[in-house]
Amino acid sequence: MDFGLQNKVALVAAASEGLGKASALALAKEGAAVAVCSRREQEIRAAAAEIHSATGSTVHPFVCDVSNASDIKRWVDDAAQKFGTIHILVNNAGGPPTGSISSLTDEQWEAGFELTMMSVVRLTRAVLPLMEQQRWGRVITIASFVAKEPLNELLLSSSIRPGILGMTKALSSQYASKGITVNTVCPGYILTKRQDELLRSRAAQQNVSKEEYLREQARLIPAGRLGRPEEIGSVVAFLASEHAGYISGVNVMVDGGLAKAIH
Ligand SMILES: NC(=O)c1ccc[n+]([C@@H]2O[C@H](COP(=O)([O-])OP(=O)(O)OC[C@H]3O[C@@H](n4cnc5c(N)ncnc54)[C@H](OP(=O)(O)O)[C@@H]3O)[C@@H](O)[C@H]2O)c1
Repeated sequence: MDFGLQNKVALVAAASEGLGKASALALAKEGAAVAVCSRREQEIRAAAAEIHSATGSTVHPFVCDVSNASDIKRWVDDAAQKFGTIHILVNNAGGPPTGSISSLTDEQWEAGFELTMMSVVRLTRAVLPLMEQQRWGRVITIASFVAKEPLNELLLSSSIRPGILGMTKALSSQYASKGITVNTVCPGYILTKRQDELLRSRAAQQNVSKEEYLREQARLIPAGRLGRPEEIGSVVAFLASEHAGYISGVNVMVDGGLAKAIH
């Protein structure tokens, strides 16, 4: 299936590794030119070079902390200047801290909100005028299954992510007539560095090895295994494609059947 992304420009946030990098790779494989960012210069440059050499597509790295408003402005301006426009936005960021109602400080809540919610607000707001001008756009936000089924130890994430689903739904109806779709992807447990860190800390709390905890975790997932980053990348690329032009305001759970509610 040709996704029709050869002449498209994508902006993928937080893409030096993990789900952002997998999304950038999937879009680049389909022929899109991709602007990628993360906070660490060496890592984002290395990721861009790796994706370029694997796909032949143009991949433009930029150093940007997506929890910082002026960094976002500099990045979007840079990408729009380099490529002339932006067709696809993939909102993504690092995971907010774990913790409980008694352990999380006001500062952590505020920083978590800047990182998880305001990065999506600011990036989306910055690219929508370009998408409106060309009457074509795709806004895809990587959220989390906890937006649907909260987890106690991911209190901050479980509190903020549902707001992203609400914003997605509201924007989708506002921008549908302009050729712009707005959707979210909610990963379950996907094996990335973030997930590895979570696995380690949960294993330590339960006094078992990481491998033992991983086996336990996999047993709880109907698919019997954790997900692979490229399984998120494929869904992002499909939602960005011409084929998904009539899909807007939806949340795609990519969790191996983990979440039990009817979504
Ligand atoms: N993996 C999962 O199972 C899973 C499940 C549900 C939801 N999620 C969510 O999906 C998102 C990505 O997770 P992941 O597993 O891919 O994480 P990851 O493997 O830790 O990768 C995080 C990426 O984000 C970048 N990053 C972190 N903070 C940033 C910031 N402030 N500004 C710009 N870039 C930043 C990192 O690069 P630098 O360090 O260079 O900035 C890195 O490239 C997170 O929000 C996570 O909570 C993940």
